[in-house]
Amino acid sequence: MKIKVSVYRYNSAYQSRPKYDSFTIPYHQGMTVLDAILFIYKHLDSTLAFRYECRQGICGTCGVMLNRKPVLSCSTQINPKIKKNIIEPLANFPVEKDLVVNLKPLLKKYLKIKPYIEKIKKKIITKDIANKSKPYRKCIECGCCIAGMEITKTSKGCLDPMSLVKIARYLTDPRDGLNRKPIAKELGVKYYSEEIGRRISKSCPRGIPIDEVIKLVK
Ligand code: SF4
Ligand code: FES
Repeated sequence: MKIKVSVYRYNSAYQSRPKYDSFTIPYHQGMTVLDAILFIYKHLDSTLAFRYECRQGICGTCGVMLNRKPVLSCSTQINPKIKKNIIEPLANFPVEKDLVVNLKPLLKKYLKIKPYIEKIKKKIITKDIANKSKPYRKCIECGCCIAGMEITKTSKGCLDPMSLVKIARYLTDPRDGLNRKPIAKELGVKYYSEEIGRRISKSCPRGIPIDEVIKLVK
């Protein structure tokens, strides 16, 4: 059986507009989006740019849009019943080339929240204490939550959900001595409501409850 895949193509160095290339590829049961991309790269067009590493849903590098929804390409299967699956780079990020987005603006912001333990306090971490930060430690920094949120005039420039999750991770870790809520406030947490958080959660491949994150951080 063969399927059709439409892939976003763009090179920020010399193209003013993106285009879509169509490929017909052999389908096998359980085929992931990354399998499809790798087939295209190996057999049809080796100029296709994309990212991946672990192929196990752990490294967070392989995020793309599949049929307009953010997914990890290594752990999401292609739907053979769809006439043409559309693969695009993560939404809400500037595109470098094809499926590769520029993460620099995100990482610049991310560093502002100090994504590490600061002013360390000596504490014995019991299992119960460790469990409090567990849901937030599951974040693999894939950016799918950002790609899945609606960017409006109000949300533009506000703190991204990935940073909020990291703040929640340290707010629930008693070893961290930094006063993080004022940082979140200054960087723009106001925009978020729990309802917005619930919607964003649907894009998170790790099932992190962003609504709870918002409740905690606000
Ligand atoms: S919160 Fe979820 S979607 Fe967002 S970066 Fe972390 S793992 Fe990815
Ligand atoms: S390749 Fe690492 S999460 Fe997909």
